[in-house]
Amino acid sequence: RGATGAHTDLAGRHVVVSAGGTREPLDPVRYLGNRSSGKQGYALARTAAARGARVTLVAANSALPAPAGVDVVPVGTARELREAVVEAARDADAVVMAAAVADFRPAVYAEGKIKKRAGQEPEPLTLVRNPDVLAELSADRPRPGTVVAGFAAETDDVLANGRAKLAAKGCDLLVVNEVGEKRTFGAEENEAVVLGADGSETPVPYGPKEALADTVWDLIAQRMPAAGQ
Ligand code: CTP
Ligand code: CA
Repeated sequence: RGATGAHTDLAGRHVVVSAGGTREPLDPVRYLGNRSSGKQGYALARTAAARGARVTLVAANSALPAPAGVDVVPVGTARELREAVVEAARDADAVVMAAAVADFRPAVYAEGKIKKRAGQEPEPLTLVRNPDVLAELSADRPRPGTVVAGFAAETDDVLANGRAKLAAKGCDLLVVNEVGEKRTFGAEENEAVVLGADGSETPVPYGPKEALADTVWDLIAQRMPAAGQ
């Protein structure tokens, strides 16, 4: 149920959601990771399915159970996530990037476990950039009408940072959360502002991640070309 009151306003649509956090391996036993729980992405997948969409959930390292009726594609690294999202997005009406994608990965992967040596300081860690999936999909839409949305957690001047990021990414919508002490990571509830490339600004009060997800689908549905076009 979105603001429209419809139960099936996404029927006949294929939507792709990424969730969780990527992990970039250093060696067979270690990785660089982040604290994303995957809850917001899973809430987006569940609510889209409830509204009648066919949903592909590209899930990076999430321990959450697969939502009923959702096609889950598990991935580990940012590069695996990009491949899975691009593949699933080929016939998608919308893509929502809720995953926390590592910006960098170790430049080299050690085939054997990295060992410490007596009296020696560790080698510095060299990182390289990962692909920016959201910017790529926004610049190179799988279909002319595919709606592309992202998430950003910001501190300081949250709205100004969000506007700048929306423009830099080239996406249609950016959900901006303020992060701080005990906010967002692993929480059940969320507060956000959804910025539109058309200049719109939709505040979403503190509440369950499902409510934010429903607002995001409302805004996406408004931006989709009429079905069958
Ligand atoms: N994102 C992505 N690929 C990346 C990094 C981020 O697709 N390599 C997506 C995220 O899934 C999210 C959005 O971009 O939807 C914003 O992520 P964020 O980390 O806030 O943006 P960055 O451009 O990486 O900016 P920052 O330097 O602030 O981390
Ligand atoms: Ca980032």
